[in-house]
Amino acid sequence: MQVYLNGSYLDHKEAAVSVSDRGFVFGDGIYEVTRVVNGRFFKEKEHLERLEEGLAGLKINLDETRKKQIPEISRELLKRNGHTEGEAAVYLQITRGSAWPRTHTFPDPEVPPTLYLATSPFTPHTKLHETGVDAITISDVRWARCYLKTVNLLPNTLAKQQAEDAGVNSAVMIRDGMVTESPNANIFGVKDGALYTYPATNYILNGITRRTVLEIAEERGIPVHYTPVSEQELFELDELFFSGTTTDIQPVTVLDGKNIGTGKPGPVVRQIQEGYRERLYGE
Ligand SMILES: Cc1ncc(COP(=O)(O)O)c(C=O)c1O
Repeated sequence: MQVYLNGSYLDHKEAAVSVSDRGFVFGDGIYEVTRVVNGRFFKEKEHLERLEEGLAGLKINLDETRKKQIPEISRELLKRNGHTEGEAAVYLQITRGSAWPRTHTFPDPEVPPTLYLATSPFTPHTKLHETGVDAITISDVRWARCYLKTVNLLPNTLAKQQAEDAGVNSAVMIRDGMVTESPNANIFGVKDGALYTYPATNYILNGITRRTVLEIAEERGIPVHYTPVSEQELFELDELFFSGTTTDIQPVTVLDGKNIGTGKPGPVVRQIQEGYRERLYGE
C-alpha cells in the first residue's frame, strides 16, 4: 500500500515523519476522511472547505500550490492502490511541520507543513445500519474548539475504548446536561417526527454527513430543531441516530441498557438512510 508524504509516493512501511514533527509532539494538526465510491468522491468540496477552515483555525500556512494538488494526489493514490473500484476512504492529515527545539510557540521562521495522504478499502457497517447499535452515555470532557477537526483525539479514543470495554458499540457524549455528539459521529434525536440536533457551535464538529442529513430532512419535509437533547429527554425520544463519514446513518436503539423508543430503528431514520444512500451511491 502506498501513501503520499511531502511530495513522494512511498510504501507505507517506509513513510516516516520526524520525531520533531509537531503532529507527533503536540497533536498540532488537522485531518479529513472522505468516502469514495467507484472512484467518485462524496462531498469532496465540503471536505476541502472544512480543511481550509481547519488550517485557518490553527493558523497553519499550507501554500496554495500544495493545497491545489490535494485532489490530484488523492486520485493518483487511489489509482496506485487499486481503490478506484468499489468503496474506499481517503485519509488526509496536515501538521504544522517539523521544528527543533521543541517550543510551544509556532516555529519562527515558519517551517513547511507536513502533508500526508493514505487510501484504504472501505466496508460500510451495513449490518449495524440495519439492526441499530447500543451505546453508553459518557461525559464530554473535550476542549471548547470541537468545531476544528484536529488530530487531538485522545478524549474521543478514550471514550470509544470505554464503550468497547462496556461491551457496546459507541458512546453518547454529554456536556452541561446536553447531548453533544459521539466520539466519531454527530447525533440526532427524533421526537414526534421532528429532528433535534445540537446547533453547530464550538462544542461539536459540524459533520459533512450531519449537513447532508439536514438537506435530506428539508427535501422530505422533516422538521428540524437546532435544540440539543437533554440527558433527561434522551429516554423520551422516539429515535436516536448517529451520522458520520465512516458511520453513515446508524440508528442507536439501546442506551445505557434501556431501549430508545421501541428498541428498533424507527421510520424517520429509515427515511434519512434512504436519502443518504441515494446521494452516496447515486441510486
Ligand atoms: C467528533 C466527530 N463528530 C462528528 C463527526 C462526523 O463528521 P463527518 O460527517 O464530517 O464525518 C466526526 C467524524 O470523524 C467526528 O470525529
